[in-house]
Amino acid sequence: MNNSLDPIVYLNGEFIALKEAHVSVLDRGFIFGDGVYEAIPTYAKNPFRLQHHLDRLNNSLHAIQIKNPLSSKQWHQLIEQVIQKNNFEDQSIYLQVTRGVAPRKHTFPQYDNPTVFIMTSPMEKQSLDVMENGIHVITLVDNRWQNCHIKSISLLPNVLLHQQAIDKGAQETILVRDGEATEGSASNLFIVLNNCLITPPKSPLLLPGVTRDLIVEIAHKQEICLKEQAIHEEDLFNAQEIWLTSSTKEILPVTKVNDKIINHGKPGPYWHQLISAYQDYIQEQRENNSNER
Ligand SMILES: Cc1ncc(COP(=O)(O)O)c(C=O)c1O
Repeated sequence: MNNSLDPIVYLNGEFIALKEAHVSVLDRGFIFGDGVYEAIPTYAKNPFRLQHHLDRLNNSLHAIQIKNPLSSKQWHQLIEQVIQKNNFEDQSIYLQVTRGVAPRKHTFPQYDNPTVFIMTSPMEKQSLDVMENGIHVITLVDNRWQNCHIKSISLLPNVLLHQQAIDKGAQETILVRDGEATEGSASNLFIVLNNCLITPPKSPLLLPGVTRDLIVEIAHKQEICLKEQAIHEEDLFNAQEIWLTSSTKEILPVTKVNDKIINHGKPGPYWHQLISAYQDYIQEQRENNSNER
């Protein structure tokens, strides 16, 4: 059992302290960014929507031609063990699979030798200020590749696009490609326009977010109008509300885009309805889990 400063992680068959976890400099993850990852929130030690993350991991691995090194059952067991070996309640699990160690050549190595790494850290709670006043974002041209549906560890474009927001005093970047707003640098996009929720349809130009799918499910259940359709850049400036979603950030209300204030600078009524339903859903998962233990 370990604390958050020195968590126990899993690396290639071993549970070890994070400090002791090392990979070769010839790992293709280090040399080429040749790998994929998942980030999974864990509430009351219960991984949230785990099978959805494992399905997406499978798709990402398939897309880059790495054979999934573990069965779904093995992934469940390893993740469960990492969670139990660390004594903080709400955790953020990060897992990564790379094509492993090989001489530095672009060509795939002949034999499968993937590196499998799972770590955990405490889940960060959203600040009261963000929940009351929302976040500020900027828009930038999406200069990433055409395979944004793959959850690749090659995140340099995302990092650079995100940092430009930080440097301008904003918190996130909304990406625009050919006049359409697709997603954030590390989040999916929803707007409310004419009292209807809109999120762009899944395509290779954005990551199919697990949180996005849950919000779509909740909206359908609550009979809120929801359309999966393109969001034009100018829609952002006419929107009643804008949200950015991800597993670790949940649903963030956006109250300023570039210089335009959204909903008088406050999260709107649709956000309040959805965040409350989302939190109820998490609470149900917590209770189911404690009943099972
Ligand atoms: C580019 C991008 N889009 C969307 C998301 C949201 O995905 P999820 O809800 O599965 O965390 C992420 C999460 O990291 C992301 O990096």
